Amino acid sequence: MIKLPQLVKTQFLSVQDVATLINRMGLETVFKGMASYIREDYLRWQDFEKCARVANHSTDGVIELMPISDAKTYAFKYVNGHPKNTAIGLPCVMAFGVLADVDTGIPEFMSELTLSTALRTAAMSAVAAQVLARPDSKCMALIGNGAQSEFQALAFHYLLGIEEIRLYDTDPQATAKLLANLQSSGLRLTVCDSVAEAVRGANIVTTVTADKTNAAILTLNHIEPGMHINGVGGDCPGKTELHPDVLRASSVFVEYEPQTRIEGDLQHLPADFAVTELWQVLAGQTPGRSHAKEITLFDSVGFALQDYSALRFMRDAAIELGLGQVVSLIPELVNPKDLFVLLQPDSHATPAPLMNKTSQTAARRTLIQEVVLTA
Ligand SMILES: NC(=O)c1ccc[n+]([C@@H]2O[C@H](COP(=O)([O-])OP(=O)(O)OC[C@H]3O[C@@H](n4cnc5c(N)ncnc54)[C@H](O)[C@@H]3O)[C@@H](O)[C@H]2O)c1
Repeated sequence: MIKLPQLVKTQFLSVQDVATLINRMGLETVFKGMASYIREDYLRWQDFEKCARVANHSTDGVIELMPISDAKTYAFKYVNGHPKNTAIGLPCVMAFGVLADVDTGIPEFMSELTLSTALRTAAMSAVAAQVLARPDSKCMALIGNGAQSEFQALAFHYLLGIEEIRLYDTDPQATAKLLANLQSSGLRLTVCDSVAEAVRGANIVTTVTADKTNAAILTLNHIEPGMHINGVGGDCPGKTELHPDVLRASSVFVEYEPQTRIEGDLQHLPADFAVTELWQVLAGQTPGRSHAKEITLFDSVGFALQDYSALRFMRDAAIELGLGQVVSLIPELVNPKDLFVLLQPDSHATPAPLMNKTSQTAARRTLIQEVVLTA
């Protein structure tokens, strides 16, 4: 019997591919799609092997690996958080990730996740707010107007019907950028001079600041009965946004408790402070908001399951739109025990340069024909 090389395909989505995908589908459709993938995966919570992410800390930042898997698919994200990066022209958050086949380990899909993280974080915030915020919420305060902020504003506009956003950032240029980017969004945008001014009368307060410090951007005097707080920027040991009294006054909801205890605003509270994992609310096992005056708080840190959902959504949407390319990430070998053959200059199995789908298919056909002829 003729032995053919094991074909290993990795579909790759670049930043440009993801931007094209969003522009073709429309941001509203992408948010709705991603939110429904997140909800679907959260309803399968027990199917996943979960762990808190692995974090390597340095003075100014952190680099994290976020793995998760079910019986069929393994996913991971590489992500950093370096609040000082923007001063040297780099994003605070940069990421990429992979979906792999559990049976063989083949990395089947690899994508940029910087843009996709902003999408999935905002979609996750909105999914949480749908069960935690008052259903008549129309006004949101947005504290921190950096890279994530437009995505938060638009997800809440499209998925919750938020009509007005009250903006505050210590950097007025960040707020000016947000205003310019969202001028034709249909949102009413109000620039505020302080956190107190921004949150006054808001139904929802989103904090999405970046500073590697134990900050108390929201204090108890800012909080009004019935508010929903969406705390996004406190996501690392020693990097928080909310005064502990804000958590004490609230019903606190988290993604994955073992991780949030280490990374969330929750890190300032004792280990027995009660919290609810969001999947329980989405599954109908626990109520979300139970009355109009309750203060609810989503202590978001970003959990691997959201990235699993985001990667799944991006893969499916890219297939539908014919975007991305096949890359040669793993060698294709006639004899899987002969990796050394790759070092031969005329090896058929030499990793191919980046190719689009058509040329990749043609190259495969040629390779198989040659193997058949020489066998
Ligand atoms: N929870 C999650 O899933 C998740 C996902 C992505 C990013 N994040 C976090 O969200 C935060 C924001 O990320 P980004 O990419 O938008 O960062 P960014 O650096 O682009 O923007 C952060 C903004 O916060 C502002 N800021 C800092 N301190 C402030 C303060 N005291 N009051 C008001 N504004 C203040 C800065 O001026 C800046 O404009 C980061 O901390 C990041 O780690 C969390």
